[in-house]
Amino acid sequence: MRRIWREEIERIVPYQAGPSLETLERLHGPLVRLSSNENPLGPSPHVVDVVAREASRVHLYPDGGSTAVREALAGELGVGPEQLVVANGADELLQLIGLAAFDPGDEIVVPEPSFEPYTIVAQIAHATVVASPLLGYHTSLEDVRRRINARTKAIMLCSPHNPATTIIPRGPMMALLDAVGDDPPLIVLDEAYGDFADDPDYPDGIALLKRYPRLLILRTFSKIAGLAGLRVGYAIGSAETIDRLNRVRAPYNVNRLGQVAAVAAIEDREHREKTRRLVIEERAFLMRELARRGFLFPPSQANFLLVKVPDAAATRDAMAKAGILVRDGGAVGFPGHLRISIGLRETNERLLKVLDFSRL
Ligand SMILES: Cc1ncc(COP(=O)(O)O)c(C=O)c1O
Repeated sequence: MRRIWREEIERIVPYQAGPSLETLERLHGPLVRLSSNENPLGPSPHVVDVVAREASRVHLYPDGGSTAVREALAGELGVGPEQLVVANGADELLQLIGLAAFDPGDEIVVPEPSFEPYTIVAQIAHATVVASPLLGYHTSLEDVRRRINARTKAIMLCSPHNPATTIIPRGPMMALLDAVGDDPPLIVLDEAYGDFADDPDYPDGIALLKRYPRLLILRTFSKIAGLAGLRVGYAIGSAETIDRLNRVRAPYNVNRLGQVAAVAAIEDREHREKTRRLVIEERAFLMRELARRGFLFPPSQANFLLVKVPDAAATRDAMAKAGILVRDGGAVGFPGHLRISIGLRETNERLLKVLDFSRL
């Protein structure tokens, strides 16, 4: 029989995004979703305005190079536009990396557990995933380093880590970058949650990039800017890295609404600051209240917490009954935990009440 689909594809377990919010609300009534690390404030009103205005122009193809977004980002970040590629979410950036860089047999070092698409992209390319176990809730760069050899094509790092919420501090990060030498693998640093880190030891990825050109930083408008539904992410790298990613990118990968929304989100610094302040304040509130109740969790630098609970499935169900969706840690490599996005104060208080009630 003729084999149509590639063998490696048959082995892939598709990423489980779960049912849509709309489907769940049809079944259960109004819900607050704290399972997808979204922005509790929603998008900026300026973004809503520009998207509404742009809607009548959606019959026109977008700018294939996302020029306005790249120029606005370049000004904001102090890099050249040729060091930026914009994509359909950071998710697409991972695919571009796989397409442009991964050959069958390459080794890709991936902390385990971590954001599942890192592994999926490597499997699609028929590359070998080399798992580097977390040390508790922390990425162990010493372990990562031990796993690097001549076949290593890339190292996938995530800071703040999804789902473990911890950062890779500046010291160990620089020690790794120094140790890998002048001809290192590609070092992908996923900073999807970087805007929520307030630890003074959280390194400035762009400053590192100036010293270590094989670094590739991934960021997204989904979290801090609340554009998850429009799908806009970007990568910052050397001009050479960005050029290679551009070669495999679809010609119009970022749609018109996404592009104008991203520019508007860059312009509305106040909304981003408001989001950051809210997340940091509510994160401190939730951590304090959970600790007071005896729950264990790593101190979070992201817009979510990873909380150890006696019965994750029962607690998740109790929350769903109260109209709050949280992620079962078992689905993201941490059985016995719940991954809970930081919500508005009113939601967080409700969540604590469910926890109190379900422990009686
Ligand atoms: C660590 C990490 N990287 C990347 C992404 C993807 O972001 P985007 O919505 O831009 O595709 C996510 C989304 O949750 C994430 O958690």
